[in-house]
Amino acid sequence: MGGASPEHQVSLASGRGIAKAVEILGHTAIPLVIDAKGNWVDGQHEAIEILQACDVTVPALHGEGGEDGTLQGFLNQLKVPYVGSGVAASAVGLDKHLTKAVLKAHGIAVTPGVTLSGPDLTDTEAAMQTIKAAGLDFPVFVKPGNGGSSYGVTRATDLASLAQAIADAADVDPHVLVEREMVGREIDLAVLQFPDGHVDTAPALEIHSDPSQPFFNATAKYDSTATRFVVPAPLDPALAERLRRTAIEVFEVLGCEGLARVDFFVPADGEPVVNEINTFPGFTPASQFPRMWAAAGMSYADVVDTLLRTAAA
Ligand code: DAL
Ligand code: MG
Repeated sequence: MGGASPEHQVSLASGRGIAKAVEILGHTAIPLVIDAKGNWVDGQHEAIEILQACDVTVPALHGEGGEDGTLQGFLNQLKVPYVGSGVAASAVGLDKHLTKAVLKAHGIAVTPGVTLSGPDLTDTEAAMQTIKAAGLDFPVFVKPGNGGSSYGVTRATDLASLAQAIADAADVDPHVLVEREMVGREIDLAVLQFPDGHVDTAPALEIHSDPSQPFFNATAKYDSTATRFVVPAPLDPALAERLRRTAIEVFEVLGCEGLARVDFFVPADGEPVVNEINTFPGFTPASQFPRMWAAAGMSYADVVDTLLRTAAA
């Protein structure tokens, strides 16, 4: 838990919640923390010894350095079983550009957008031409290509806010995504893999983000008492089934394992699109993923038990 990404604190909360559940399940949990600079707090040599002594490990890390396949590759090298997706699915899943490319290639609708690079990152007029050529116009969302928890994401409404938004996103990742604003409902699906290999989803969750924030940003996610999650989301059965099938398809197309949260936008007057996937979604007791499974009758500890058993199977 922890890690060098901007999601360090969220990861600590996810990791602590999971460690507590592991103990409730009657196992021994050994928390291993990676500090905000990316170093193992116990020392790398000691951390490797601890990891290799474990029956199963839980990379409760969000964002770069933990959810992007690098830690998964490290664990592969150590021959340590771990919860969740392997190298390729983690790497593609954290990269919003690659995720979209793979999903589009499989005919899965994604938020329309374009990736900026090179001169577009410093020349706002050039960026605007690229954005217009992609069929987009203000307002747009500007995101770092590999971010999480909406850090570095801005809603840009004019050239001045676009310039600042690109600079802020490029600060997190040199690949910057510009996406169409999707006006409508924001719906999450939780995908879980069971020890026999089959995958299932829990009832969908609808986000009612703090209306004082411009979108479901990091403040609305973590610091607001006005954000509400509604589970099960009130959806007509055909839409619920469509989102459920698409979430499982996304999981399978990307080659995910263990768990994932697939986030959708459902426009008032259009087809649902996949906004993104999180291969290790927020896992605090208040996070969407365990809340959706609670609506399916699985406690937080039941979900952790399933993850451990699937990883060890
Ligand atoms: N990236 C954050 C932790 C989430 O998916 O909930
Ligand atoms: Mg995310």
